[in-house]
Amino acid sequence: MQSRVALVTGGTGGIGTSIVQRLAQMGHRVATNYRDEAKGRAWQAQMKGLGIDVALAQGDVSSPEQAEALVRNVESQLGPVDILVNNAGITRDSTFHRMTPQQWTDVIGTNLNSCFNVTRPVIEGMRERKWGRIVQISSINGQKGQYGQANYAAAKAGMHGFTISLAQENAKFGITVNTVSPGYIATDMVMAVPEDVRNKIVAQIPTGRLGNPEEIAYAVGFFIPDEAGWITGANLSANGGQYMGW
Ligand SMILES: NC(=O)c1ccc[n+]([C@@H]2O[C@H](COP(=O)([O-])OP(=O)(O)OC[C@H]3O[C@@H](n4cnc5c(N)ncnc54)[C@H](OP(=O)(O)O)[C@@H]3O)[C@@H](O)[C@H]2O)c1
Repeated sequence: MQSRVALVTGGTGGIGTSIVQRLAQMGHRVATNYRDEAKGRAWQAQMKGLGIDVALAQGDVSSPEQAEALVRNVESQLGPVDILVNNAGITRDSTFHRMTPQQWTDVIGTNLNSCFNVTRPVIEGMRERKWGRIVQISSINGQKGQYGQANYAAAKAGMHGFTISLAQENAKFGITVNTVSPGYIATDMVMAVPEDVRNKIVAQIPTGRLGNPEEIAYAVGFFIPDEAGWITGANLSANGGQYMGW
Protein backbone atom coordinates (compact mmCIF):
# COMPACT_ATOMS: atom_id res chain seq x y z
CA MET A 1 0.00 0.00 0.00
CA GLN A 2 1.15 3.54 -0.78
CA SER A 3 2.48 5.45 2.24
CA ARG A 4 0.30 8.49 2.86
CA VAL A 5 0.20 11.40 5.28
CA ALA A 6 -2.35 11.01 8.07
CA LEU A 7 -3.46 13.63 10.59
CA VAL A 8 -5.16 12.27 13.70
CA THR A 9 -6.54 15.00 15.97
CA GLY A 10 -6.29 14.25 19.67
CA GLY A 11 -3.70 11.61 18.84
CA THR A 12 -2.14 11.83 22.30
CA GLY A 13 -5.32 10.55 24.00
CA GLY A 14 -6.47 7.03 24.81
CA ILE A 15 -8.15 6.15 21.51
CA GLY A 16 -6.06 8.59 19.45
CA THR A 17 -2.81 6.89 20.45
CA SER A 18 -4.07 3.55 19.16
CA ILE A 19 -5.26 5.15 15.91
CA VAL A 20 -1.85 6.77 15.42
CA GLN A 21 -0.15 3.42 16.06
CA ARG A 22 -2.46 1.53 13.71
CA LEU A 23 -2.01 4.00 10.82
CA ALA A 24 1.77 3.95 11.34
CA GLN A 25 1.73 0.13 11.31
CA MET A 26 -0.19 0.35 8.03
CA GLY A 27 2.80 2.26 6.63
CA HIS A 28 1.50 5.82 6.79
CA ARG A 29 3.34 8.91 8.05
CA VAL A 30 1.32 10.22 10.95
CA ALA A 31 0.90 13.59 12.64
CA THR A 32 -1.14 14.84 15.55
CA ASN A 33 -1.74 18.03 17.49
CA TYR A 34 -0.87 19.01 21.01
CA ARG A 35 -1.99 21.89 23.18
CA ASP A 36 0.58 21.54 25.96
CA GLU A 37 4.05 21.30 24.42
CA ALA A 38 5.74 19.41 27.29
CA LYS A 39 2.95 16.83 27.35
CA GLY A 40 3.05 16.51 23.56
CA ARG A 41 6.82 16.04 23.42
CA ALA A 42 6.78 13.45 26.22
CA TRP A 43 4.13 11.47 24.32
CA GLN A 44 6.14 11.81 21.09
CA ALA A 45 9.22 10.39 22.87
CA GLN A 46 7.11 7.50 24.16
CA MET A 47 5.97 6.73 20.59
CA LYS A 48 9.57 6.98 19.37
CA GLY A 49 10.46 4.36 21.99
CA LEU A 50 7.94 2.06 20.31
CA GLY A 51 9.55 2.72 16.93
CA ILE A 52 6.86 5.14 15.73
CA ASP A 53 7.81 8.60 14.44
CA VAL A 54 4.93 11.04 14.87
CA ALA A 55 5.03 14.64 13.66
CA LEU A 56 3.60 17.11 16.16
CA ALA A 57 1.98 20.48 15.60
CA GLN A 58 0.37 22.80 18.09
CA GLY A 59 -3.31 23.56 17.79
CA ASP A 60 -6.64 23.78 19.54
CA VAL A 61 -9.10 22.27 17.07
CA SER A 62 -12.02 24.31 18.40
CA SER A 63 -10.37 27.41 16.89
CA PRO A 64 -10.61 27.82 13.08
CA GLU A 65 -7.37 29.82 12.98
CA GLN A 66 -5.40 27.34 15.11
CA ALA A 67 -6.78 24.37 13.17
CA GLU A 68 -5.71 25.91 9.87
CA ALA A 69 -2.25 26.67 11.27
CA LEU A 70 -2.07 23.08 12.55
CA VAL A 71 -2.81 21.67 9.09
CA ARG A 72 -0.29 23.98 7.39
CA ASN A 73 2.35 23.01 9.96
CA VAL A 74 1.73 19.29 9.35
CA GLU A 75 1.92 19.86 5.58
CA SER A 76 5.25 21.64 5.97
CA GLN A 77 6.63 18.70 7.96
CA LEU A 78 5.18 15.73 6.06
CA GLY A 79 3.42 16.97 2.90
CA PRO A 80 -0.27 17.19 1.96
CA VAL A 81 -2.74 15.42 4.25
CA ASP A 82 -4.46 12.45 2.55
CA ILE A 83 -6.01 10.87 5.64
CA LEU A 84 -7.79 12.85 8.36
CA VAL A 85 -9.21 11.35 11.52
CA ASN A 86 -11.32 13.83 13.50
CA ASN A 87 -10.85 12.22 16.90
CA ALA A 88 -10.28 15.06 19.42
CA GLY A 89 -13.17 15.23 21.84
CA ILE A 90 -14.25 16.13 25.35
CA THR A 91 -17.23 15.64 27.64
CA ARG A 92 -18.77 18.21 29.99
CA ASP A 93 -21.64 16.17 31.41
CA SER A 94 -24.68 17.65 33.10
CA THR A 95 -28.42 17.13 32.92
CA PHE A 96 -29.78 19.69 30.49
CA HIS A 97 -31.78 21.71 33.03
CA ARG A 98 -28.49 22.44 34.84
CA MET A 99 -26.24 22.74 31.77
CA THR A 100 -24.35 26.02 31.41
CA PRO A 101 -23.78 27.80 28.07
CA GLN A 102 -20.06 27.10 28.59
CA GLN A 103 -20.61 23.35 28.91
CA TRP A 104 -22.68 23.43 25.73
CA THR A 105 -20.29 25.54 23.64
CA ASP A 106 -17.13 23.75 24.84
CA VAL A 107 -18.46 20.36 23.79
CA ILE A 108 -19.92 21.54 20.46
CA GLY A 109 -16.69 23.48 19.78
CA THR A 110 -14.26 20.62 20.41
CA ASN A 111 -16.29 17.72 19.04
CA LEU A 112 -18.27 19.24 16.16
CA ASN A 113 -16.94 22.66 15.13
CA SER A 114 -13.51 21.02 15.05
CA CYS A 115 -14.68 18.86 12.14
CA PHE A 116 -15.30 22.01 10.11
CA ASN A 117 -12.13 23.67 11.36
CA VAL A 118 -9.73 20.84 10.51
CA THR A 119 -11.45 19.36 7.45
CA ARG A 120 -11.90 22.69 5.65
CA PRO A 121 -8.12 23.27 5.20
CA VAL A 122 -7.51 19.71 3.89
CA ILE A 123 -10.50 19.11 1.62
CA GLU A 124 -9.47 21.22 -1.36
CA GLY A 125 -6.10 19.45 -1.63
CA MET A 126 -7.78 16.04 -1.42
CA ARG A 127 -10.18 17.06 -4.21
CA GLU A 128 -7.29 18.27 -6.40
CA ARG A 129 -5.32 15.05 -5.82
CA LYS A 130 -8.47 12.92 -6.28
CA TRP A 131 -7.87 10.82 -3.18
CA GLY A 132 -8.78 11.22 0.46
CA ARG A 133 -9.99 9.45 3.58
CA ILE A 134 -11.86 11.29 6.33
CA VAL A 135 -13.09 9.49 9.44
CA GLN A 136 -15.08 11.06 12.26
CA ILE A 137 -14.86 9.48 15.72
CA SER A 138 -18.41 9.88 16.99
CA SER A 139 -19.98 7.85 19.81
CA ILE A 140 -22.69 5.35 20.63
CA ASN A 141 -24.25 8.21 22.59
CA GLY A 142 -24.68 10.20 19.38
CA GLN A 143 -26.74 7.28 18.05
CA LYS A 144 -28.91 6.56 21.10
CA GLY A 145 -28.70 9.70 23.27
CA GLN A 146 -27.53 9.60 26.89
CA TYR A 147 -28.81 10.97 30.17
CA GLY A 148 -26.63 13.93 31.15
CA GLN A 149 -25.08 14.32 27.70
CA ALA A 150 -27.38 16.53 25.58
CA ASN A 151 -24.33 18.57 24.49
CA TYR A 152 -22.18 15.52 23.69
CA ALA A 153 -24.96 13.54 21.98
CA ALA A 154 -25.88 16.58 19.85
CA ALA A 155 -22.25 17.08 18.82
CA LYS A 156 -21.68 13.39 18.09
CA ALA A 157 -24.92 13.02 16.08
CA GLY A 158 -23.93 16.19 14.22
CA MET A 159 -20.62 14.61 13.29
CA HIS A 160 -22.40 11.88 11.37
CA GLY A 161 -24.61 14.45 9.60
CA PHE A 162 -21.36 16.09 8.57
CA THR A 163 -20.01 12.72 7.36
CA ILE A 164 -22.95 11.87 5.13
CA SER A 165 -23.07 15.31 3.52
CA LEU A 166 -19.34 15.41 2.82
CA ALA A 167 -19.52 11.83 1.54
CA GLN A 168 -22.03 12.92 -1.12
CA GLU A 169 -20.16 16.06 -2.11
CA ASN A 170 -16.78 14.39 -2.44
CA ALA A 171 -17.44 10.85 -3.70
CA LYS A 172 -16.57 11.80 -7.29
CA PHE A 173 -13.17 13.02 -6.13
CA GLY A 174 -11.97 9.69 -4.73
CA ILE A 175 -12.62 10.85 -1.17
CA THR A 176 -14.50 8.64 1.26
CA VAL A 177 -16.00 10.04 4.44
CA ASN A 178 -17.12 7.72 7.22
CA THR A 179 -17.90 7.64 10.92
CA VAL A 180 -16.81 5.24 13.62
CA SER A 181 -19.10 5.21 16.65
CA PRO A 182 -17.34 3.64 19.62
CA GLY A 183 -19.14 2.29 22.62
CA TYR A 184 -17.54 2.43 26.06
CA ILE A 185 -13.76 2.06 25.81
CA ALA A 186 -11.40 1.60 28.74
CA THR A 187 -9.69 5.00 28.44
CA ASP A 188 -9.19 7.71 31.06
CA MET A 189 -12.50 9.28 29.91
CA VAL A 190 -14.42 6.15 30.94
CA MET A 191 -12.23 5.04 33.85
CA ALA A 192 -13.01 8.45 35.44
CA VAL A 193 -16.66 7.37 35.72
CA PRO A 194 -17.37 6.05 39.28
CA GLU A 195 -16.90 2.28 39.52
CA ASP A 196 -20.53 1.51 40.41
CA VAL A 197 -21.76 3.47 37.38
CA ARG A 198 -19.16 1.76 35.20
CA ASN A 199 -20.30 -1.66 36.38
CA LYS A 200 -23.86 -0.77 35.37
CA ILE A 201 -22.60 0.23 31.92
CA VAL A 202 -20.67 -3.04 31.50
CA ALA A 203 -23.82 -4.96 32.47
CA GLN A 204 -25.53 -3.44 29.37
CA ILE A 205 -22.79 -4.58 26.98
CA PRO A 206 -23.47 -8.01 25.41
CA THR A 207 -19.74 -8.79 25.18
CA GLY A 208 -19.58 -8.29 28.96
CA ARG A 209 -16.60 -5.95 28.91
CA LEU A 210 -15.43 -2.49 27.90
CA GLY A 211 -13.78 -2.12 24.51
CA ASN A 212 -10.07 -1.55 23.93
CA PRO A 213 -8.68 1.47 22.05
CA GLU A 214 -7.05 -0.97 19.59
CA GLU A 215 -10.50 -2.21 18.61
CA ILE A 216 -11.52 1.32 17.61
CA ALA A 217 -8.25 1.82 15.75
CA TYR A 218 -8.97 -1.38 13.82
CA ALA A 219 -12.36 0.02 12.75
CA VAL A 220 -10.70 3.26 11.57
CA GLY A 221 -8.05 1.33 9.67
CA PHE A 222 -10.76 -0.59 7.83
CA PHE A 223 -11.80 2.56 5.93
CA ILE A 224 -8.31 3.57 4.75
CA PRO A 225 -7.04 1.17 2.03
CA ASP A 226 -7.82 1.63 -1.67
CA GLU A 227 -10.02 -1.49 -1.42
CA ALA A 228 -12.36 0.48 0.87
CA GLY A 229 -12.92 3.10 -1.85
CA TRP A 230 -16.57 2.16 -2.36
CA ILE A 231 -17.46 2.48 1.32
CA THR A 232 -18.54 6.02 2.04
CA GLY A 233 -21.12 7.64 4.33
CA ALA A 234 -21.10 4.63 6.68
CA ASN A 235 -21.47 4.78 10.43
CA LEU A 236 -19.56 1.82 11.83
CA SER A 237 -20.64 0.88 15.34
CA ALA A 238 -17.87 -0.62 17.48
CA ASN A 239 -19.64 -1.05 20.79
CA GLY A 240 -19.64 -4.70 21.87
CA GLY A 241 -23.27 -5.01 20.77
CA GLN A 242 -24.58 -2.40 23.21
CA TYR A 243 -26.54 -0.56 20.53
CA MET A 244 -27.52 -2.16 17.24
CA GLY A 245 -29.08 0.56 15.13
CA TRP A 246 -29.38 -0.03 11.41
N1 LIG B 1 -13.42 6.70 25.63
C1 LIG B 1 -14.59 6.27 25.22
O1 LIG B 1 -15.19 5.36 25.77
C2 LIG B 1 -15.23 6.90 24.01
C3 LIG B 1 -16.45 6.38 23.58
C4 LIG B 1 -17.03 6.92 22.46
C5 LIG B 1 -16.42 7.94 21.79
N2 LIG B 1 -15.24 8.45 22.23
C6 LIG B 1 -14.64 9.53 21.47
O2 LIG B 1 -13.35 9.15 21.07
C7 LIG B 1 -12.52 10.30 20.97
C8 LIG B 1 -11.25 10.08 21.79
O3 LIG B 1 -11.61 9.84 23.13
P1 LIG B 1 -10.55 9.38 24.25
O4 LIG B 1 -11.28 8.50 25.16
O5 LIG B 1 -9.32 8.89 23.58
O6 LIG B 1 -10.31 10.77 24.97
P2 LIG B 1 -9.00 11.34 25.70
O7 LIG B 1 -8.12 10.22 26.15
O8 LIG B 1 -9.49 12.33 26.70
O9 LIG B 1 -8.23 12.11 24.53
C9 LIG B 1 -8.75 13.25 23.93
C10 LIG B 1 -7.71 13.85 23.01
O10 LIG B 1 -8.27 15.01 22.39
C11 LIG B 1 -7.41 16.11 22.62
N3 LIG B 1 -8.19 17.35 22.71
C12 LIG B 1 -9.20 17.64 23.56
N4 LIG B 1 -9.67 18.88 23.33
C13 LIG B 1 -8.92 19.39 22.32
C14 LIG B 1 -8.90 20.62 21.62
N5 LIG B 1 -9.76 21.62 21.90
N6 LIG B 1 -8.00 20.80 20.63
C15 LIG B 1 -7.12 19.83 20.32
N7 LIG B 1 -7.09 18.63 20.93
C16 LIG B 1 -7.98 18.41 21.91
C17 LIG B 1 -6.71 15.81 23.93
O11 LIG B 1 -5.56 16.59 24.03
P3 LIG B 1 -5.11 17.27 25.44
O12 LIG B 1 -4.15 16.30 26.03
O13 LIG B 1 -4.48 18.55 24.99
O14 LIG B 1 -6.33 17.47 26.26
C18 LIG B 1 -6.46 14.31 23.74
O15 LIG B 1 -5.33 14.12 22.90
C19 LIG B 1 -13.36 11.48 21.47
O16 LIG B 1 -13.91 12.16 20.35
C20 LIG B 1 -14.45 10.81 22.26
O17 LIG B 1 -15.61 11.59 22.31
C21 LIG B 1 -14.63 7.95 23.35
